[in-house]
Amino acid sequence: MDDPKSARGVMDFVGVSRTALEVTSLSVNYGAIRAVQDVSLDVPRQGITALVGANGAGKSSILRALAGIVPECHGSIKLNGVDVSKLPARKRVIDHGIVLVPEGRGVFTTMTVRENLELGLLIGDRRRALGATTTFDLEEVYNLFPILRERGDKRAQYLSGGEQQMLAISRSLLMSPALLLVDEPSMGLAPQLVRRIFDVMSNVFAQHKVTVLLVEQDTKIALEIASFAYLLERGVISLAAPSAVLREDPRLKIAYLGVASTILSGDASDNNRGNR
Ligand SMILES: Nc1ncnc2c1ncn2[C@@H]1O[C@H](COP(=O)(O)OP(=O)(O)O)[C@@H](O)[C@H]1O
Ligand SMILES: [Mg+2]
Repeated sequence: MDDPKSARGVMDFVGVSRTALEVTSLSVNYGAIRAVQDVSLDVPRQGITALVGANGAGKSSILRALAGIVPECHGSIKLNGVDVSKLPARKRVIDHGIVLVPEGRGVFTTMTVRENLELGLLIGDRRRALGATTTFDLEEVYNLFPILRERGDKRAQYLSGGEQQMLAISRSLLMSPALLLVDEPSMGLAPQLVRRIFDVMSNVFAQHKVTVLLVEQDTKIALEIASFAYLLERGVISLAAPSAVLREDPRLKIAYLGVASTILSGDASDNNRGNR
């Protein structure tokens, strides 16, 4: 793997950095448990980057650290050149547009579908007043997921898991995200539904030029829609490559079987950063 620094500040032809999110040496601790160790990664503007890894690898801890909701973390988190690592969660969402779709969806179950969406809109309005440009309205999310219009007056607790996921994604889009963090959208859903939700996500994110960091245990589907991917093993990035390359790497399967990738390769702790 090339020098991790080589991927830093990738410039496009007009001289503007393509990197939206730049994470350097991120660590997350829960007391004595070191869940994430010295992770560095980049997410380019207007694309989907995947973070894959087995259960317990530390994927959610990274997303929660980016959103500012872990008790202890260290390292630098820059979004569009601004260091947000010391900011409270609320400021990260409203001022900087770091929006998390958490594991387990995080919809407000006692509120109606429409009220959940209106909360997203409320935050989106605040963000647009501050200059955010991504716009999304209720009509658009209803067109994406017509079932949400039909279920508008129902409390979110009466939705199926798939419908709740659609609601969580829609609410986050209404918040006008500058960086969307999506944690395991496939969790607990039937394969057919997963496929549908991923198709919609992939289309809508591309159409609206949303910048996404997608966490998934289901590598197959995640690597289909992401252009670049990181493999996380026991809190450390062990591989970083274009999705098409990572998909073919035998170390991916081995990581999922729980066999140390260090058996095959000495670079598991190299903290590799993507080379774009
Ligand atoms: N709130 C917490 N308190 C203590 N340990 C935690 C907590 N959350 C996660 N962990 C531990 O941190 C490690 C990474 O967890 P997590 O980030 O949830 O992984 P993943 O999302 O990849 O499944 C695991 O060993 C898990 O048990
Ligand atoms: Mg998780």
